[in-house]
Amino acid sequence: MIKLTESTPTAQPETCELEDLKNQDQQHVWHHLTPGAAAAKGVPMFVRGEGLQLWDSDGNQYLDASAGGVWVTNVGYGRREIADAMYQQLLELNYFAGSMASKPATRFATRLLEKMPGFSRVYYSSSGSEANEKAFKMVRQISQKHYQGKKHKILYRDRDYHGTTIATLSASGQNERRDHFGPFVPDFIAIPHCCEYRNQYPDAEHYGLRAAQALEDVILQEGPDTVGAVILEPITAGGGIITPPEGYWQHVSDICQRHNVLLIMDEVVCGLGRTGAWFGYQHFGIQPDIVTMAKGVASGYAAISCTVTSEHVYALLQESEEDTLGYFRDISTFGGCLAGQAAALANLEIIERENLVDNSARMGKRLLDGFRTLAEHYPMIGDVRGMGLFAGIELVEDKVTKVPVHERIPTAIAAECKQRGLLIGRTNRSMSGYNNILNFSPALIASEGDIDNIVRILDDAMAKVFNQHAAWASPNDKL
Ligand SMILES: Cc1ncc(COP(=O)(O)O)c(C=O)c1O
Repeated sequence: MIKLTESTPTAQPETCELEDLKNQDQQHVWHHLTPGAAAAKGVPMFVRGEGLQLWDSDGNQYLDASAGGVWVTNVGYGRREIADAMYQQLLELNYFAGSMASKPATRFATRLLEKMPGFSRVYYSSSGSEANEKAFKMVRQISQKHYQGKKHKILYRDRDYHGTTIATLSASGQNERRDHFGPFVPDFIAIPHCCEYRNQYPDAEHYGLRAAQALEDVILQEGPDTVGAVILEPITAGGGIITPPEGYWQHVSDICQRHNVLLIMDEVVCGLGRTGAWFGYQHFGIQPDIVTMAKGVASGYAAISCTVTSEHVYALLQESEEDTLGYFRDISTFGGCLAGQAAALANLEIIERENLVDNSARMGKRLLDGFRTLAEHYPMIGDVRGMGLFAGIELVEDKVTKVPVHERIPTAIAAECKQRGLLIGRTNRSMSGYNNILNFSPALIASEGDIDNIVRILDDAMAKVFNQHAAWASPNDKL
């Protein structure tokens, strides 16, 4: 741990080193998702974490309600048990390619599958994008082997995100994430989103059924014999914490079965307790064919992801005498890092032992109740959504017109929260016109006191920003 010094007449060695590091960072590190102008001013350097608390290099302390910025640190910071499990594994054996068996890969797969009835195979890789790429390759190979290459199209939903590689970006419905990176991979086809607050079918009697019907419309339009799979997030994360409308999932599942379309559930964010169930799909009584997961698998202690399949999918991808190349010929070099699987096992045991899935459900309810109380006071809170410790607040100019606020408002609120020692997330240059959503995903260990602090600090930050907005809302001088 770096010991931070108070300001002293002569600079301490640690302070000098930190200053050097900050300068070097500005010169050499290309930060993710960060415009050059912001990077040039310097971004915070976090140096230590414990539970939900983080400390930066200037000695400031924060309550992290973003799980490491991007929904990762499910069991919180500073877990010695996970570090020890990784250390022991690294000393015993750090690596061999995933074509061979290993103790940690076998142990974690066995424990994980206990939480996922109906699934039987775990394919390891090292990021959420990669886990989704594996799923896409499975679909394409199934199409080649069993449908003469015809059933190869993969549908994805507007506002969902599935990753940063060209193929997963081709399957992502967030235009500002995609802009400038085309051309994209052919035959990834969009279907409409299911955000009831932004209802596209005002005349429909039942929004959930109508939104699911939009999937079938696209399958029929493309031709069911050409559609191999649909990939969906159980609850859309970066696209604005979109909880599914009532009836949606059952209907989607029926449509997939009717047209022999594989259902790929992207649990990269929702998996491992985030939504108050082990996996998001388990809230809805459905059984997908493939489930991908990454962020909470080892809570950021190691880079590990999994593509989990049913035995049916596994059986479709086997060789035969006539088709010797017919098995899934794929590898992920770092899917063979054994410390990742050791970390994942320790992480799962912590979630189980500390009842963090239940805690996520209970504390998530408290968080949403707190936000709904704020919504009664602030006309600019249009919608509050979420499940478990996974919540979003959609900001609008007013509750009647629902015109989304400019993205500078959520940016200003997040900055005010940070000033007050709270880190929150927001839709960040994702969808034009809809970067108006604040998001919250504290570690699953959050206590009642943590939740109340999040709501209280947010309340203060909103009061300041909304007051400023009202004062500045003259035609010439708008925030
Ligand atoms: C739902 C979802 N899927 C996939 C990914 C991609 O994961 P990674 O950044 O680990 O490649 C993300 C990343 O935020 C995500 O939110």
